[in-house]
Amino acid sequence: MISIIVAIASNNAIGKDNRLLWHIPEDLKRFKKITIGQCVLMGKNTWYSLPVRPLPGRTNIVLTDVQGEIIEGCTTTYSIKEAVGKCDDSKDIFVIGGGMIYRQFLEIADRLIITHVHKDFDADIFFPEIDTAVWEEIEREDHGPDQHNDFAYSYVTYRRSV
Ligand SMILES: NC(=O)c1ccc[n+]([C@@H]2O[C@H](COP(=O)([O-])OP(=O)(O)OC[C@H]3O[C@@H](n4cnc5c(N)ncnc54)[C@H](OP(=O)(O)O)[C@@H]3O)[C@@H](O)[C@H]2O)c1
Repeated sequence: MISIIVAIASNNAIGKDNRLLWHIPEDLKRFKKITIGQCVLMGKNTWYSLPVRPLPGRTNIVLTDVQGEIIEGCTTTYSIKEAVGKCDDSKDIFVIGGGMIYRQFLEIADRLIITHVHKDFDADIFFPEIDTAVWEEIEREDHGPDQHNDFAYSYVTYRRSV
């Protein structure tokens, strides 16, 4: 099972200056709960954006096109196929970003675990439009604004329907 996990703004924004655009503590806790014990696969920019590297309790697999480069603290891989192959069969693969990696995995992922942030953000990295002819919504949980944020957000899971 390959799942994409991402938080996306209303205008599809996901990052700026190699950083996230918001801080939603509940979403971070949920991210940890979902991914713990599994493989997390990411691009090199996302790896270097993590405040704590590697993400503890998970197999961290990082993609770079720079052949021979060894990134300390993770399993370094040089192609999508190799990255997927590095995950133990007993574990699920969670694709955790960023923009470049999501775009490629959208073609092969089985499931999207999306936090839809109901606000537009200024950004330099965007998630592709989710094609509802391909992706069927199977779960939704809505949350209003809270003491941390002035915007509402929804956890939505999609499965590939074609
Ligand atoms: N909102 C969210 O949930 C979320 C989650 C994660 C990240 N983000 C944001 O996304 C942004 C980072 O995204 P990004 O698009 O700049 O970078 P990225 O996808 O994290 O990493 C891109 C790098 O991955 C490597 N790469 C990509 N495709 C590859 C392939 N097929 N084979 C081998 N290596 C490959 C390349 O590394 P080399 O340059 O070394 O060749 C490329 O430069 C940040 O702002 C981050 O905060 C947001």
